[in-house]
Amino acid sequence: MMRTHEVGTLRPEHAGHEVTVAGWVASRRDHGGVVFFDLRDASGLLQVVVDPEQITDDDVHHIGREWVIQIVGEVRPRREGTVNADLPTGGVEVGARSLTVLNRAEPPPFPLSDRGDDVDEVLRLKHRYLDLRRNSMQRNLRIRSRVNAALRTSMNEQDFVEVETPMLIASTPEGARDFVVPSRFSPGEFYALPQSPQLFKQLLMVGGLDRYFQIARCLRDEDLRGNRQFEFMQYDMEMSFAGQADVMAVVTTAVSAAVEVITGEPLAFIPTMTWAEAMERFGSDKPDVRFGMELTDLGDAVAGTEFKAFHADAVKGICVPGRGDASRSVLDGLVDRAKALGAAGLVWMRVMAEGSLESPVAKFLTAEEQAAIVGALGAAPGDLVLIVAGARRRTNDVLGALRLDLGRPPVAEGGLVPLWIVDFPLFEALGDDGQPIPAHHPFTQPHPEDLALLDTASGEEFLDIRSQAYDLVINGWELGSGSVRIHDPGMQQRIFSLLGIDETEAQARFGFLLDAFRYGAPPHAGFAFGVDRLVALLAGEESIREVIAFPKTQSGADPLTGAPNRLDASQLRELGITVPPRK
Ligand code: AMO
Repeated sequence: MMRTHEVGTLRPEHAGHEVTVAGWVASRRDHGGVVFFDLRDASGLLQVVVDPEQITDDDVHHIGREWVIQIVGEVRPRREGTVNADLPTGGVEVGARSLTVLNRAEPPPFPLSDRGDDVDEVLRLKHRYLDLRRNSMQRNLRIRSRVNAALRTSMNEQDFVEVETPMLIASTPEGARDFVVPSRFSPGEFYALPQSPQLFKQLLMVGGLDRYFQIARCLRDEDLRGNRQFEFMQYDMEMSFAGQADVMAVVTTAVSAAVEVITGEPLAFIPTMTWAEAMERFGSDKPDVRFGMELTDLGDAVAGTEFKAFHADAVKGICVPGRGDASRSVLDGLVDRAKALGAAGLVWMRVMAEGSLESPVAKFLTAEEQAAIVGALGAAPGDLVLIVAGARRRTNDVLGALRLDLGRPPVAEGGLVPLWIVDFPLFEALGDDGQPIPAHHPFTQPHPEDLALLDTASGEEFLDIRSQAYDLVINGWELGSGSVRIHDPGMQQRIFSLLGIDETEAQARFGFLLDAFRYGAPPHAGFAFGVDRLVALLAGEESIREVIAFPKTQSGADPLTGAPNRLDASQLRELGITVPPRK
């Protein structure tokens, strides 16, 4: 038998038992002839004591970190004063009767004992198999596994059918670049890898599956950041004869089940906020509502001011508590940041004793205006006030970004604070050609109250049309998105033509979906959220790379396997591909 117990399971009640344990040597300490090992397996750490008088094997003197050993010995209580209260097994040790070296190991290129925050990430990823031995990675991957299991159980309980959709497909319309795979049978032709199962899940609804879910791998060729990878997992669902409230209820139940399995508590009640309110109050469509510093409209406070910079579409401010002592160079940095974000400028004001303001622009404002600003923001002596004036959308964006820069707590602070954002605009912007650009994807149903606007709107008015799209936000991260879909081919054609997708293009890109819709598509709606993001939030990690076994670096490389790499000439020939020579 390789082992009778996992090391982390031994407790004082095992004292006197003979056990066989096996694992890696996490550390080794020599104490006057006796050697202490911390033995690690997936269950934890255990102290093993080896007396070289009894175990004369030559190897004992050479065993180093990460060697794989097996110990047969007796569990005994630790002597008083040597109990380690920080370790679940800290009350016991195993006195080795025999020791077998199962495998030798070279010294690891970085220590595996701590969190690894100070180890270069490329080095960690190059030796990910070692990095995975560290506590935090072990913990995170176990959280991930339990989250996946809880999501599956919840969706099965809610009577959803798990269906796998293909990986080699024609392009999907999620708005990122596709990863493509060349076809050997049809040289010069390519499959796209799915950015999401979107079109297939809608086809499943036409196919009468009624309630679909999948924990689906998605691929998007986009710039990587902390919560973005090329490959990621979506909890994906779609349901027929259902609308926004039905989808939100199913998703809430599933997310709450996953949260409860990790934290012991179900997810807090999820309030709903409209997109328009989120933008006005937080300057973000994924507001982090764990802290205040809300955007305050100062239009009334400065109405009629002589100060020209405040004669603008919107004048808004935030109050940064206790930061009135910010140095001039910090304040200059904030002004630069606001300008880089697109503001014409940034007004700063230090709130002094008795509520007077110290600011380069104070002299342009009357005492009443200054008092009104301080009052509207609820600012107190010692606070810093930041004001932006300009076009309303831009003003909200700039202050929203500054609010996060100056106030955002670490991702795990304060537990998980969820929020539904509803009534997203149907179009996010106008393209250079004046055509509206969809905010979600082109299958999103417009808001029933705004249908008339579809016919009458022109230019910027298009941006006021709302949709039936909704997001779930947790701690300022967009966890997921969904929408009620268009199921009527006539409405779909209307949206395509507004987006400048003519019939030929629509037929070429989504013809199969439009065809399917001619055969009795049920009303349907759905949602998808990033599993990596949910797991990172539950694990208290700022980066999803910490909850993915084999992630890519920020530049999209895998230092472990060397991907991406070149193909050999014969493979390229077979695929009919020519590539430029290596520089
Ligand atoms: P969307 O594009 O908003 O919607 O994606 C849904 C969620 O997937 C996660 N996500 C990512 N996670 C890690 N790395 C990435 N590169 C990445 N891109 C997206 C996010 C995001 O909120 N088909 C629609 C959903 C629907 O309408 O049903 C869709 O994919 O958490």
